[in-house]
Amino acid sequence: MSIAIGPYIIDQPVILAPMAGVTDRPFRQLCRELGAGLVVSEMVTSDTRLWNSRKSRLRLDHAGETAPISVQIAGGDPEMMAEAARENVRRGAQIIDINMGCPAKKVCKKAAGSALLRDEKLVADILEAVVQSVSVPVTLKIRTGWCPDSRNGVAVARMAEDIGISALAVHGRTRACGYHGQAEFDTIAEIVREVKIPVFANGDITSAERAREVLDYTGAAAVMIGRAAQGRPWIFREIAHYLATGERLPEPSLDEVREILLAHLGELHRFYGELMGVRIARKHVGWYLKTLAGSESFRKTFFQLDSAEAQHASVHEWFERRITRGAQAA
Ligand SMILES: Cc1cc2nc3c(=O)[nH]c(=O)nc-3n(C[C@H](O)[C@H](O)[C@H](O)COP(=O)(O)O)c2cc1C
Repeated sequence: MSIAIGPYIIDQPVILAPMAGVTDRPFRQLCRELGAGLVVSEMVTSDTRLWNSRKSRLRLDHAGETAPISVQIAGGDPEMMAEAARENVRRGAQIIDINMGCPAKKVCKKAAGSALLRDEKLVADILEAVVQSVSVPVTLKIRTGWCPDSRNGVAVARMAEDIGISALAVHGRTRACGYHGQAEFDTIAEIVREVKIPVFANGDITSAERAREVLDYTGAAAVMIGRAAQGRPWIFREIAHYLATGERLPEPSLDEVREILLAHLGELHRFYGELMGVRIARKHVGWYLKTLAGSESFRKTFFQLDSAEAQHASVHEWFERRITRGAQAA
């Protein structure tokens, strides 16, 4: 079943979660190509005075992205959030997503992200200001509440729907939970029952089977995948296929992983430039290699390389050796 966010139809019920430092433009594009129905940008601060930094400029760059372009904004001041929303739409955002789900200290110190959930009046002021400031759909990402004793996610969800939020992503932990314990889906199921807008269930979903269970249990319209996509962007097609057919896709071959990784590497170098691209590539390549047995010593070697060419060549060669070895053993 397809999901409508304003005029946009999301045809796969599997969405890439916003992750600062991870879901940059190259990664978002890759996830879309590999089956994500929607991808959400890293959060952008609502303080437009900070947008001149290189980091912000890159986060605000959506050239060539597939529609709908969803941009997440973070901040605690309604007027600044409204201004940030308007400015992002001017720069190409087709959906504005509001971050009330991230516990990162940097964000919470300024009473933004999930820290806002403690103050429902401020939440309402921010949602109203943003919804009124733009004509594109506005979505919201929350946790299930402020802390386990105060799971006000249901109240916030109802309020968000009344104010005109078009879809809601819910991470099944409270703000106080950080990333500890297991995500819980009872509150998400309750939210789904209480609102008519599409709800996306998020937290600890790492396989196609788990995605099916979470959708069945919560009744959510889609699952949202964060950490499990790191180094495994093909998880989106695996989940989409399983949800549609009940059958598991085979793991990608080493050949295909190499192609995906080399293309990703190239995009990172192009997008960030060599100096920054090489540093950012280390993190992503490390994630890919984690999923491959026997890659520990290569990871160490790779982390010391400091040029785009050397990174590319070493990945190519490492896979080549393994593919040849595999073919000889067969
Ligand atoms: C490195 C990292 C960065 C994140 N950055 C953001 C962010 O910018 N905005 C946001 O709403 N959530 C952010 N999150 C939270 C994720 O979107 C997601 O809710 C959380 O990781 C739980 O989903 P998962 O278990 O599938 O990873 C971040 C999470 C991680 C691990």
